[in-house]
Amino acid sequence: MSELQLSNVRKSYGGLEVIKGVDLDIKSGEFVVFVGPSGCGKSTLLRMIAGLEEITSGDLTIDDIRMNDVDPSKRGIAMVFQSYALYPHMTVRENMGFALRFAGIPKAEIEKRVSEAANILELGPLLERKPKQLSGGQRQRVAIGRAIVRHPKIFLFDEPLSNLDAELRVHMRIEIARLHKQLAATIIYVTHDQVEAMTLADKIVVMRGGVVEQIGSPLDLYDDPANLFVAGFIGSPKMNFLKGVIETGDGGTFTRLSDYGDAKIPVGLTGATPGTAVTVGIRPEHFKETGTAALDLTIDMLEHLGGETFAYARHGNGELVVIETKNGRGLKSGDRIAARFDPACALLFDADGKRLR
Ligand SMILES: Nc1ncnc2c1ncn2[C@@H]1O[C@H](COP(=O)(O)OP(=O)(O)OP(=O)(O)O)[C@@H](O)[C@H]1O
Ligand SMILES: [Mg+2]
Repeated sequence: MSELQLSNVRKSYGGLEVIKGVDLDIKSGEFVVFVGPSGCGKSTLLRMIAGLEEITSGDLTIDDIRMNDVDPSKRGIAMVFQSYALYPHMTVRENMGFALRFAGIPKAEIEKRVSEAANILELGPLLERKPKQLSGGQRQRVAIGRAIVRHPKIFLFDEPLSNLDAELRVHMRIEIARLHKQLAATIIYVTHDQVEAMTLADKIVVMRGGVVEQIGSPLDLYDDPANLFVAGFIGSPKMNFLKGVIETGDGGTFTRLSDYGDAKIPVGLTGATPGTAVTVGIRPEHFKETGTAALDLTIDMLEHLGGETFAYARHGNGELVVIETKNGRGLKSGDRIAARFDPACALLFDADGKRLR
């Protein structure tokens, strides 16, 4: 049974519709991540679930009960924000217990829940400190602690780690994954970070312009994107997109890439009309020496990361193609290469960006 459900949920500010009919099912215990470009409506959707924004139309149900008009405090939800203002004059213990005191929960129960949360988050030794005596990561844990003590059914996180430095982010990402297991909690999490989305999510929701583009497991979206937008959004460095035209000839269908020296690659669709304009998508790691298709490219720039190299290469004055290789140490810029790839790994999209299968 789904724990949380959105049915044709919309949001308008005045005449401007920013959420344009979202349907979503979230199961109990699921870790769901919202991604999408800035302004696509991730925070708005989260805030509507929390009850901080009114839902213009459509239904939000939690455990099959319609929640649109239920007070935020009665939805069984706790939200952790990017800017988690802790009360500076209160200790960690007081910060974590504040919402419970405010709700009139007995003192002994508050004590119990705060020490429970402090244990989970390893904040025990810091309970008597004030926020200014904590590191950024410790403060973030207190903010999460404030949510945990409320024993919510559902946690909402809006870019909770974006204020932290790279090392702390990695640390907190692992903490959040552990927390999810330990509490068996349902989590909805907004992030701009590819790695966070790929590693934390059971299910990723890709949004654009107030619309859900695709929902799926991280690897489903990576391997099997429904359209050009999802293909380009998931994965870093991005998938390469090469413009081509379908042709038929001896041996079947292929795609001619006029920007790449008229390379004829065996990527096509049986039954596709010759002359159809398409985009061929190839991920950087799909270039392999054993590939049967090849592009004639000249290396423009190299990024040596140690274990692997990213080569940025082009044909003539064409678009840059990113190639990932484990054997790139000997390459130098100006080198001419035959960038080989397995045509079976290439994806095909029509002129509207829809995936062709
Ligand atoms: N109170 C408001 N009044 C009018 N428009 C708003 C209001 N709040 C948000 N919007 C608009 O709604 C759209 C979605 O905003 P939202 O904050 O949900 O985006 P987001 O996906 O969270 O972006 P980001 O990644 O930058 O946080 C934006 O175009 C924004 O300008
Ligand atoms: Mg936002």
